[in-house]
Amino acid sequence: NAPKLWAGRFSQETDALVHQFNASLSFDRRLWPYDIQGSLAHVKMLGKCGIIPAEDSQTIVAGLETLAADLETGTAALDPGAEDVHMAVESLLTQRLGPVAGKLHTARSRNDQVATDIRLYVKDALADLGGKAERVQSRLIELASQNLDTLLPGVTHMQHAQPVRLAHHLLAYFWMLSRDRERLVDAWKRTDMLPLGAGALAGTTFPIDRHFVAQELGFAGVVENSLDAVSDRDFAIETVSAVAILMMHLSRLSEELILWSSPEFGFVEMGDNVTTGSSIMPQKKNPDVAELLRGKTGRVYGDLTALLTIMKSLPLAYNKDMQEDKEPLFDALDTASISLSVLHTLLENIAFKIERMARALHGDFSTATDLADYLVRQGLPFRQAHEVVGKIVGRCVAEGRALEDLSADDLAEASPLFTGVDAPALISPRGSADARAAYGGTGKAAVEAQLERAQSWLEAR
Ligand code: ARG
Repeated sequence: NAPKLWAGRFSQETDALVHQFNASLSFDRRLWPYDIQGSLAHVKMLGKCGIIPAEDSQTIVAGLETLAADLETGTAALDPGAEDVHMAVESLLTQRLGPVAGKLHTARSRNDQVATDIRLYVKDALADLGGKAERVQSRLIELASQNLDTLLPGVTHMQHAQPVRLAHHLLAYFWMLSRDRERLVDAWKRTDMLPLGAGALAGTTFPIDRHFVAQELGFAGVVENSLDAVSDRDFAIETVSAVAILMMHLSRLSEELILWSSPEFGFVEMGDNVTTGSSIMPQKKNPDVAELLRGKTGRVYGDLTALLTIMKSLPLAYNKDMQEDKEPLFDALDTASISLSVLHTLLENIAFKIERMARALHGDFSTATDLADYLVRQGLPFRQAHEVVGKIVGRCVAEGRALEDLSADDLAEASPLFTGVDAPALISPRGSADARAAYGGTGKAAVEAQLERAQSWLEAR
């Protein structure tokens, strides 16, 4: 193991098992670019404020810059025996610069350092997720505009309810993702505050300039309270909860695609490049991608639960429990990132079976509400109209007929208000869908307008 940078007061070596248990390098090593970025801003500030000599500050800046370049190219490597990423980076710097490197940690603690690193990391990760969610949204808009005239049975309780446009159905997911992106931006805003300068917990005796550091690192402001600065992980919890909600949306879309690709539905055909086979059943083509998206949602919920539980009841200020924040946080961000990418690929490689959707609407009584609405327009109270049409449906079911088999005379028999009605027009799925012309409904003009608003939502971001 690497020599400990805090070993002064210790007379015994750390037990090997304790070192292994305590170490976080295996999972926090990905923070090194942010750790160096934070150190650069900090040491520039130390020089500028006269806390360390300007030449020392410049030496350390140069050392950190070459170290970053060397870590990037693989010329340098973090010592796997180091306790954590902060120690690993500082040891490398010390090897290169000698004792002057020891001035970097002036007016700083690993507590405010790690909080800064994670916030920098999360800001980048949130921006990445936003971009990936946007690509999925664009694809949904594309599919929606290709399917303005495609109808399918809209369902509630998984029972045929009323015909809807496929475009309308797809746009529902667009709006879910728009809220997800708003939540990501919101989490980003509260992540965008600098904890550095809090020291271990109480602040620092040196005349530091936290606002300068915030500006250097691109933070909107500084965390007001040093105790809060080192002990707050709300930004991580908020981020993962936004990600959990996003994954919930992906799981719902995945579930529908899985159902729709089953032979019973047959609404969707997934490409061979996004499906997998069976090792025993030669005929199989399985929707593994969509199933994994559904499953990974559970995993991200686990990450959120882990974070909330780790932080629950923690007294101020920093506690080592908080080192456990990283794995669930990174796991949730990684999972959502690949999930959005793979969903985009899936949506690039599916074909909707428009004929099957249309056929599913035949004889499914999904325009019964339109018959009732017609009677209402003739002056019948809705409850009575519901009863009349319910009887018509009941009779059809008993006689094995579909609504669309009924003639105007059949209808007039059920209620005189139907006399002279254009029955086929009233009962047709397309007529039914188009009649839902009010804002937000599934009528053609309404969906066209919605599509335009979705497009402008995207463009405004
Ligand atoms: N590896 C630690 C973490 O991730 C860094 C902070 C350590 N601070 C301390 N006082 N031991 O939380």
